[in-house]
Formats: sequence, C-alpha cells, structure tokens
Amino acid sequence: MTSSLPTSLVAALRAARRVAILTGAGVSAESGIPTFRDAQSGLWATYRPEELASPEAFRRNPRLVWEWYAMRRAAVLAAEPNAGHVALAELERLVPTLTLITQNVDGLHARAGSRDPLELHGNITKVRCSVEGTFYATWAEDGDLPPPCPACGAPLRPHVVWFGEQLPTDVLQQAWHAAEACDVFLSIGTSGLVEPAASLPRVAYSHGATVATINLDVRERSEERLFYLHARSGVLLPQLVAQLARA
Ligand code: OAD
Repeated sequence: MTSSLPTSLVAALRAARRVAILTGAGVSAESGIPTFRDAQSGLWATYRPEELASPEAFRRNPRLVWEWYAMRRAAVLAAEPNAGHVALAELERLVPTLTLITQNVDGLHARAGSRDPLELHGNITKVRCSVEGTFYATWAEDGDLPPPCPACGAPLRPHVVWFGEQLPTDVLQQAWHAAEACDVFLSIGTSGLVEPAASLPRVAYSHGATVATINLDVRERSEERLFYLHARSGVLLPQLVAQLARA
C-alpha cells in the first residue's frame, strides 16, 4: 500500500492548469457498492453482469433485467459518497480546470459535490423509454415490470450503457478532449479493461500529460510522468487534497 505520495506527482498537480480524472467502480467500493470484478452476491450470484447488462438480456427477460437494476438502484440510493468522492469534489476547487470522467453509474460523484461529472456509462437512477428515449422521474412499480412508457407503452429501461451499445457521443468526445488537453491524468479505481474509457490514460500520456494510476491491483512503481500507486482511493485522495491545500 502506498505509504506516501510521490513528491513529483504532487508537484505536477500543483503546477497543472488542466487535470482530468477517470474513475471506476473501485472509487465506490468504500461506499459499499460492489465492483464489477467482485463476484455478485445473493440471488444474483448465479449471473454475471455481462449476462444482465445487455440489450439481448433485456429483450430475452425484461423483468429480470429491470429487477436487477431496481435492486442496484436501491443500493445506490441507500449508499453515501465516501471520502474519496468528497476529496475529488474538493480537488475541483484546488485546480484551475478539472474534468471528472466516470464509468460509474451510481451518481455518487454529483452527490459528493462534483460539478458536472461526465457519466460515460450513464446513470442508474435515471429511467427512459426504451423506444422514444424520453426520461421519466417517476414510474409505477406495482404493475407490469418493466413499467410501460406512459406515452407509447414500450418498456422503460435504465439510462445506462449496456454491453454492445454505443456510449453517448457528446460525453465521450468531451472526455477524449479533456484527456488530450490535460497536464495531469488520474485513473482511479478502474481495472482499465473496458473500452473506450480504458484508452483515456494512454491518450493523456501520449499528449504529454503526467499519468497516475491508483487502484488495488497495480504493482507500485514510478517512472517519469507515469505513477502506479497501490492504494485505497478513500485513503489516498484525502491525503492528496490535504497536500495540495497546503501552501
Ligand atoms: P472493475 O470491477 O473492473 O475494477 C475495479 C477496480 O477498482 C480494480 O482495479 C480494483 O483493484 C480497484 N479497487 C477496488 N477497490 C478499490 C479501492 N477502495 N480504491 C481504489 N481502487 C479500488 O470496475 P471498472 O474498472 O469500473 O461497464 O469496470 C469498468 C466497466 O466494466 C464498468 O463501468 C462496467 C463494467 O462492465 C459497463 O457497464 C458498460
């Protein structure tokens, strides 16, 4: 586990005009939300996310997929942002320009105070018509599941990107441009297995940024402009913010 932050990384952050950050499920793990690589538990233990988070699964068994998301939505709404989320919201106030890009669909960055996080994979607390795309803030849970769209009757679906679906183009473009333009890129709590998010750190590095990867499955090492820190985000990020806040 990282004992102390590399001084050259803190210096790079202090000097940075633009910082871009990519977060993954590891940042929400300390809020009690399982990561994707954690085994599913309870009645969902027999399913892998890939078997439920796809248009095919929704077509094959819309009720099962709707109920899986309803369970996860309830868990997310019952969870609280952790110290890592709060530190990232504070970091926004310490650097001139910060772009927060997240693969997480739990909405915890916004609840922690981050302004306008780029939600590459959508937001599980939002629901839309599977045909018209209209968003609905409320829906009946006591009738047919998935609830039918009040306007056209098609099933409502969670506003998340499923396997095989395209990411929202405008959000992805903003994330790509932020990675190209930043001075420092932090990749936090992600296994870096799912494209196109996984390419963002490489885009930043190839455009001259200093890149730090923070998660629990890296071997600690630092090279010029490249840092791998084995640490819990809820522990390391408050330390990073505290150091930056010092004059
Ligand atoms: P993963 O579950 O693939 O990876 C979680 C990462 O977080 C791992 O690298 C862990 O080491 C790390 N980790 C766990 N606890 C941590 C902690 N307390 N502090 C820091 N790191 C920690 O989750 P993602 O990389 O986010 O896509 O998965 C990416 C995408 O794959 C998801 O957005 C989802 C999934 O398929 C879609 O649903 C489209």
